[in-house]
Amino acid sequence: MMYGRGNNFASWKQEVQGEHFSNAFQIISELPTSNILDKEPFGFSDGISQPKIDWDNQQSTEIHTRDRYSNLLAKGEVVLGYKNEYGYYTDRPLINVGVDPQACILPDAEDKPGLKDLGRNGSYLICRQLSQDVQGFWRFMQEQAGDNREQLAAAMVGRQLDDKGTPLITELGQNIPGIENKDNNFNYDQDPVGNQCPISAHIRRSNPRTGDLSAGPPGLISRLKRKLGFGLKPEDDLVTSTRYHRLLRRGRAYGTMLSPEQAIVSKEKNADRGLQFICLAGNISRQFEFVQNAWNDNSKFSGLQQQSDPILGNRHKLLDGEASNQFHQPQAAGPQHKTCQLPQFVTVRGGGYFFMPGLRALQYLTTLTDVPE
Ligand code: HEM
Repeated sequence: MMYGRGNNFASWKQEVQGEHFSNAFQIISELPTSNILDKEPFGFSDGISQPKIDWDNQQSTEIHTRDRYSNLLAKGEVVLGYKNEYGYYTDRPLINVGVDPQACILPDAEDKPGLKDLGRNGSYLICRQLSQDVQGFWRFMQEQAGDNREQLAAAMVGRQLDDKGTPLITELGQNIPGIENKDNNFNYDQDPVGNQCPISAHIRRSNPRTGDLSAGPPGLISRLKRKLGFGLKPEDDLVTSTRYHRLLRRGRAYGTMLSPEQAIVSKEKNADRGLQFICLAGNISRQFEFVQNAWNDNSKFSGLQQQSDPILGNRHKLLDGEASNQFHQPQAAGPQHKTCQLPQFVTVRGGGYFFMPGLRALQYLTTLTDVPE
């Protein structure tokens, strides 16, 4: 996978594809993309919430030492060759110099004396081309909510459509470690049933901001009771601690942008637009696949039923015929508001998993000549 910045990309590509390129590489596909934008194609601000890597080991990874949500993340959750949130080293390729002497240029594996670490300072990169039906999205919001279409869409995302991406949670400034942006400094402890931000909203599903202990009032007795499991409601323990399932994300939009108003009246057909979704993770299944399957796609997430992620869900019925295409918004007074028959707004067009080597690993890879049969 090759990528580059702005106008220099064409000349860089030509340089890389010089004399010997075809001996080693073959172009499989060229993905369309525009520059990184602040807004994704439905029109919402993106790239606001991101975990902060704990480069200086400020935070302990000891199990159950962190009651509350923290945005600081152990290095090994993103960079290979370092300890992760479990205090272990994530799986990555290690090489015995006895078998391959060229590997001596690689750093030592901290946890396996005698082995060289091909992964250190590298990461795994996940890429998905996600096509977004922007016309379908805004027409559905218009049909369901008329002039309140932006509020309905915001409830599905969990943030307003404004430039700041203002969160729906109103208790901001919670002093969460690793968050500088005041508008991102919140968790969902004050909104347990989702009156402010529905539990099914995309950002709440993708990062429920839970700590190691279920949320509850402060104080020693409350903490002890929760630790021993007294007084818990079934849904309190349904979402695992988020620190094991974080993603470092970056999206690039492709296709032309449409405003909500243009999307509603547009007559264009077959235009494709969406996101080239990219994220980095130390463990693809525990991080990316878990978030996608257990949190986004699962219609029984956190005590909910019949609804998967309102933005990403595929809307398929479960094997027993139960629906997954609804979106429920609890109201502080009165019954919850249900939106039914959500169409599919996002379709996966393709994707891949990549190993992104560190600089010494890259240097080592260039020394390899023939690969044994
Ligand atoms: C076309 C598809 C998608 C759209 C339109 C979309 C849109 C958004 C938007 C508008 C935000 C809020 C901005 C922010 O907090 O940074 C967001 C946050 C996020 N999204 Fe997505 N997203 C898409 C796909 C995905 C996928 C496939 C995943 C992972 C499997 C994902 C995971 C996340 C996460 C982890 C956050 C941050 C939540 C937080 O920390 O509060 N998104 N997304």
